[in-house]
Parts: sequence; structure tokens; C-alpha cells
Amino acid sequence: MAERARKRIVVLSGSGLSAESGLPTFRDAAGLWNQYSWVELASPDGWRERPELVLAFYNERRSKAWAAQPNAAHRAIASLERHFDVSVVTQNVDNLHERAGSARVLHVHGELAFARGTGPSRKRYRIDGAPIELGQKCDEGTQLRPDIVWFGEETQHMDEARALVEAADKMLVVGTSLTVYPAAGLVDVARREADKVLNVIEIDEVPSGFRFERGPATQVIPRVVDAWTREVA
Ligand code: APR
Repeated sequence: MAERARKRIVVLSGSGLSAESGLPTFRDAAGLWNQYSWVELASPDGWRERPELVLAFYNERRSKAWAAQPNAAHRAIASLERHFDVSVVTQNVDNLHERAGSARVLHVHGELAFARGTGPSRKRYRIDGAPIELGQKCDEGTQLRPDIVWFGEETQHMDEARALVEAADKMLVVGTSLTVYPAAGLVDVARREADKVLNVIEIDEVPSGFRFERGPATQVIPRVVDAWTREVA
């Protein structure tokens, strides 16, 4: 008997997914942008004015991300691959999805694991958990910077992400306030008939067609994954 086509799932994740791994979110009470200025630390202007400050900020975030471990929600998402065709579209710059075993992860806001030059080639360099120091140059002789998408810069992989969402049978949105575009707009291109679930603690408005599951991702996501797995196993 022909093998039934695997259903396609897209997971759109944000910093709330890594919160229970000890990494801060951005807009919650103890969020990064309530402690620091994103203009100084996550914008081209801030980089031009105080590159040493920006490097120190991301070096600290990189070493914390490297010390962190994937949590039960990351692992549950990875386990979906046993029965489903899964694509993860993440706004997170940590590599906890990959370390939990997710095979296809699109980082739309960049990755802490890479540095890049600021010359025309924008060549990327894998640095894993290592710091970037002032004076470290790319092959074209420009100062290396974190390969992170800062405010005002172009979000990555969006065409591919949209196509994946448009084709998805199920969409799971976890740990994002859906306030930063164009990534937040991905919820609007999901198919009407797709099974759509949103898991956060707080959100201003639940996108239409989404079932809202409030609570910590490590409790909610394994439950959602169990239910979806039981549908096909
Ligand atoms: N489990 C589930 N959701 C959680 C948890 C948790 N343990 N903790 C917090 N959340 C939810 C919050 O309720 C909130 O809705 O995660 C969301 C975090 O929202 P933000 O802090 O706005 O983070 P995020 O959506 O990832 O930010 C988007 O903004 O600053 C830029 O580039 C940065 O990728 C980032 C983008």
C-alpha cells in the first residue's frame, strides 16, 4: 500500500520558547529591550557609533546561549519529525532547535553561531560560541560583526518561509509576541483549513483561526505534539 504523504507542519518560534532554557525574551518584564536600548545594541546606527558595546552584548548572549540546554518544548518539536514533514521558522538566534534534533531550521533574524564581514560579499564565518573582538577582520579587511538581523535590516529567508506556511497542514506558533514584521505576518498566510495553534503566556491579540494555548511552552508544546502524533501514529 502506498505510504501516506506526511502532513506538513511549520513551527514559528520566538524567544519565549528558549525562556525556560534560561535565555531572556525581549519584551517581557525582564526582557532585553526593557533593560537595554535596541537603538544602541541592535541597529546599524548603534553599530556605527559604539561597535565595542554591540560586540560585548552579543558575546555575552552567545556564551549564555552556548551554556543553555534545549528544553522539553524544543525536544517535542524535534520529535514531530518522526511522523510529519516539519519546517522550523525561528526568530531565535540561538541553536537550541538544532541541538534538540530539528533538521530543517530557518533563522529569519540571523544566528549567534556566525559572524560576517561588512564588505560587499557579506561573507559569513562560523564561530560557534566564540566571541568577536574589535579588530577582527573578514577576508575583505572589514570589521567582523554578529550575523544578526538588526532593526532596519532585511529579514532572511522570508520567501521560503512564506511558501512553507502557505503549504502547511498544521502551524504551531510558540513563544513570540508577533510584534516584529515581516516574521509576525507569517500567521496571515496560513491556510484557512490548516490546524493552527498559538502558545504564549501573554499576547495582545490572538491571530484569527488560531487556537490559543496559554502557558509555559515546556508544559503546552509536549501536549500539543502528543495530540498531533496520536492523530497519525
Ligand atoms: N512559554 C511560552 N511563551 C512564553 C514563555 C514561555 N515559557 N515565556 C514568555 N513567553 C511569551 C511571552 O508571553 C511573549 O508573548 O513569548 C513572547 C516573547 O515575546 P518577545 O519578547 O516580543 O519576543 P519575540 O516575539 O521573540 O521577539 C521578536 O523581536 O527584538 C526582536 O529580533 C528580535 O527575534 C526578536 C523579535
